[in-house]
Amino acid sequence: MTQSIGFIGSGMIGGSLARLAVAAGLDVVLSNSRGPETLADLVAELGDQARAATTEEAAKAGDVVVATVPMSAYDKLPVDAPAGKIVIDTMNYYPERDGRIAELDSAEVTSSELLQRHLTGSRLVKTLHNMDHRRLFTRARPAGAPDRSALPVAGDDPAAKAEIVRLLDVLGYDAVDIGTLADSWRCEPGTPVYVWPYLGDRPEGITKEEAQRWFQEAPGEPVSADRVNELVDQAVRGSVGGSFAALPFWG
Ligand SMILES: NC(=O)c1ccc[n+]([C@@H]2O[C@H](COP(=O)([O-])OP(=O)(O)OC[C@H]3O[C@@H](n4cnc5c(N)ncnc54)[C@H](OP(=O)(O)O)[C@@H]3O)[C@@H](O)[C@H]2O)c1
Repeated sequence: MTQSIGFIGSGMIGGSLARLAVAAGLDVVLSNSRGPETLADLVAELGDQARAATTEEAAKAGDVVVATVPMSAYDKLPVDAPAGKIVIDTMNYYPERDGRIAELDSAEVTSSELLQRHLTGSRLVKTLHNMDHRRLFTRARPAGAPDRSALPVAGDDPAAKAEIVRLLDVLGYDAVDIGTLADSWRCEPGTPVYVWPYLGDRPEGITKEEAQRWFQEAPGEPVSADRVNELVDQAVRGSVGGSFAALPFWG
C-alpha cells in the first residue's frame, strides 16, 4: 500500500495532488527544476507530512513517483532514481508549449510510451492527467459518495495499474482501466474524456476574462465510471497534441 509519493514537478498538478495526498494521510516529497528551497511556501502549507528535495531524492523517497512536468522536459527526468518503482504520468503534449516532438506528431507512440522509453526501469501508469488542476482538487470525494468521479488509467503492467487504482481510491477517485500505454491516446488532449466533462457547460458568448473567472469558480460535475467508458469509446485518433485555444479558460 502506498504510504508516500515523490513528486517530480510541483506546479499546478503536483500541488493539487500533494494536497490530496496529505489530506489522505500520505507523506509527500516535492521537487522541481529550481531546487528545494523554492518550494518552502508549499511545504509550509502542507505541514509535517511534506518536505522538499532534489528530483533524484524525491524519486527515491516515494513508494510511488508522480512525473508531472511539461512534456518538453520528459527526457530530463532522472532514470535511475525511480527505477523499480511505479511512476504516474500526468503529462500532456502541447506543441505550443513543448515544441514539436517528431515521434508524437507521427503518432508512432503515445506521450506515455515515449516517457516509458525514457524511464526504462520504471513501470509507468498514465492517469490524473485528464482533469484540470482545480477540479482535480475540488472534485475528490470519499469512496461511495454519489458524486464521486472516475478517471481513466492506462499501463502495461497489471500489478502497477492495480496499485494505482488503490491509490486513486485513497485520493478520492474511482478508476476505469482503458488498456495499455499504447491505448492511452484515447484519453489524450482533444479526446472526449479530456477535461471538459468534469467542468460542465461553460456559459456561451463570454469574454476571455469571463471564461478565466468561470474556470476559477466552476464547481465542476461528477463523471461516473460508465460515462468515462462511453467517452473513451467515442475517441477517434486524429491530430496529436493539445491546443491552448481548446482549453476552458481560453474564452
Ligand atoms: N495544469 C493542469 O490543469 C493540467 C491538467 C492535466 C495535466 N497537466 C499536465 O501535467 C504536467 C504538469 O502540468 P502543470 O500544470 O502542473 O505544470 P506547471 O504548473 O508549469 O508545473 C510544472 C512543474 O514541473 C517542474 N519542472 C519543469 N521542468 C522540470 C525538470 N526538468 N525537472 C524537474 N522539474 C521540472 C517545474 O519546476 P519549476 O517551476 O522549478 O521550473 C514545476 O514544478 C504537464 O505535462 C501538463 O500538461 C496539467
